[in-house]
Amino acid sequence: MTTLVELTRDGEVAVILVDNPPVNALSHAVRSGLLQNLKAAQEDAGIEAVVIACKGRTFIAGADITEFGKPFQPPGLLEVIAFMDEMSKPIVAAIHGTALGGGLEVALGAHWRVAAESARLGLPEVKLGILPGAGGTQRLPRLVGAEEALKMIVSGDPIAAPKALQLGLVDEISKGDIVADGVAFARKILAEGRPIQRVRDRADKLAFDEKAFKEAAGNLTKRARGLEAPMACVTSVHNALTMPFDEGIGAERDLFMKLVAGDQSKAQRHVFFAEREALKVPDMPATTKARDVAKAAVIGGGTMGGGIAMCFANVGVPVTLIETNDEALQRGLGIIAGNYRATAAKGGLAPEQAEKRIGLIKGAVGLDAAADADLVIEAVFENMDLKKQIFADLDRIAKPGAVLATNTSTLDVDEIARATSRPADVVGMHFFSPANVMKLLETVRGRATSHEALKTAVETGRRIGKTGVISGVCFGFIGNRMLGRRTVEAERVILEGALPQEVDQAIVEFGFPMGPFAMGDLAGLDVGWRVRQGTGAKAEIADQLYELGRHGQKTGKGYFLYEDGSRVPRPDPEVEAMILASSKRLGIERRAISKQEIIERMVYPMINEGARILDEGIAMRPGDIDITWVYGYGWPVWRGGPMFYADQVGLTQIADRLAHYAETVGDETLTPAPLLVRLANEGKGFGSLAARG
Ligand code: CAA
Repeated sequence: MTTLVELTRDGEVAVILVDNPPVNALSHAVRSGLLQNLKAAQEDAGIEAVVIACKGRTFIAGADITEFGKPFQPPGLLEVIAFMDEMSKPIVAAIHGTALGGGLEVALGAHWRVAAESARLGLPEVKLGILPGAGGTQRLPRLVGAEEALKMIVSGDPIAAPKALQLGLVDEISKGDIVADGVAFARKILAEGRPIQRVRDRADKLAFDEKAFKEAAGNLTKRARGLEAPMACVTSVHNALTMPFDEGIGAERDLFMKLVAGDQSKAQRHVFFAEREALKVPDMPATTKARDVAKAAVIGGGTMGGGIAMCFANVGVPVTLIETNDEALQRGLGIIAGNYRATAAKGGLAPEQAEKRIGLIKGAVGLDAAADADLVIEAVFENMDLKKQIFADLDRIAKPGAVLATNTSTLDVDEIARATSRPADVVGMHFFSPANVMKLLETVRGRATSHEALKTAVETGRRIGKTGVISGVCFGFIGNRMLGRRTVEAERVILEGALPQEVDQAIVEFGFPMGPFAMGDLAGLDVGWRVRQGTGAKAEIADQLYELGRHGQKTGKGYFLYEDGSRVPRPDPEVEAMILASSKRLGIERRAISKQEIIERMVYPMINEGARILDEGIAMRPGDIDITWVYGYGWPVWRGGPMFYADQVGLTQIADRLAHYAETVGDETLTPAPLLVRLANEGKGFGSLAARG
């Protein structure tokens, strides 16, 4: 018998304990261990009831995702749970930590559920591009009703134990030892002689209203454009409400098999693991400890600085927001307070919570206020001289051991670090706007950055709820350096024959929430202009727009028109005329450009730059680039990120097309990068590369 699952006796109650660290995933050994022990308990005349529980930090957190896509080894989870249904002895699931996916399905196969007060329960499969495949879509609606089940399964978000109790998903909350309370609950069942409650036999919550169901499903899938799994979840929950149990299970199985073998789920599983991998630094000693961040300071009270300060207040860390004068400071603090109160007014936050967070952000004029901060984040505008001056001052002011971070989105972190006498404490923390909303945090590791300072920045990111990646120093780091390639190509394509709305349309159809031109308008065309001033680069159309005062959404005009404060871009005949005139002046004969060409021209140069970024060791792994694009730039998660997508398309194809464009456009930066060519020649993909430290 396997040691990952053990049966111990507590008198007449058998405790089946899973012990498969770190998250008790249902690997093949766990599934077979569970089945064997359940059979043993069923056969043992001395056992009257069974408790299923877990050792370590959590109840079963789901199927072992690493087994997906590999040859199936019986028993499957459906078989284990079907056996639980057949058992004549009551089964109690004793849940602590997180009961997720297959873990919750095991709990649903039990006859009763006891959960620790802090436990969370959910079916997050949709986030991996699949649906619960071991009866979850059929059993959950039978316990909590159509509406709640639909919400949990289509969103994939877990719920807390007290809510689960209220919904009928759990039968009792435990405030003490979860295993002991599970056993006590089993004894209570036995003493009361309660008949076994099989979830599959329940029908009392299956009544539903077709119209309300459709409406709820529509609302829940509104933001799921392009994704297959959410719709499959809806179909399967609907089946639970309309089909006999076994038929519903069969249909769920079919949907699961189709999704798990599909490209979308492969991409989403890649993102799941890449996200966890991205924060690992191969050359960092395991003993490295992050420094304690009890107090933070943010320099610059603009949109960026304010958003960053909110990130800290949101997790209860006091933060000082520093400005150069009182007027700017009051404006910054006012906007923050307004944001929190607006969220509270919309019901997104309890009013007292909003006030507490506002109270955690103290304002100050002058850098001296950074003296007691453990972490200082500079968020002033992109000007090297200004940043160097601030870091030289911080060097005098900040306490020893404070981590000094810059939020620069492009500039040389090493040069900024050299303005101090403590470059080992300097790191980049590149937030994305709005900083309190966007998930990505690009941590920039300078040449001199110490392991401790790096770890402090990475751990801080995790603490404030960001998805992190680590980048080396180069102009624009991982994300903006690749974006720069797309921006250049987008300008070219409109001069060659496409219109901004056609380019944006193709990119939106590819799966991005918006195209490059609408994105430029949102960020502000003055931002790119300022960057070009620093680098000496030119952009034919963007420069003209800037000079006309068309700075994007904030001025009501950019590449598109935004009338009466609308955020919906409308094509502007004036801009079209400007583009046509520019093509003519440059002697470019405009031609029709297909959607396929637009995608290739926007995406392949980014992949090419990604290959260079990998070759230079700026990104440690291709997955880090994928995480940057999925969480920072709206790359569709179901396409797994640019480097994963490149592997799907095939590197030979990409190298061929790049070579073609390098020649036809006459730009040698489009020539396939050496790493891309090498991998293509070897018949390999980026996924074959090992991490670099
Ligand atoms: N399978 C395999 N490995 C898993 C895993 C799983 N289901 N869940 C987590 N891991 C691994 C992680 O990759 C990570 O590995 P490394 O340490 O090597 O990087 C390790 O376990 C710890 O995970 P986290 O860093 O995420 O730990 P955490 O404490 O922050 O979070 C968690 C724990 C909430 C359980 C989180 O890991 C999580 O959400 N896991 C996925 C849960 C899930 O999606 N379950 C459904 C699976 S699909 C399914 O069950 C299908 C079905 O119907 C049968």
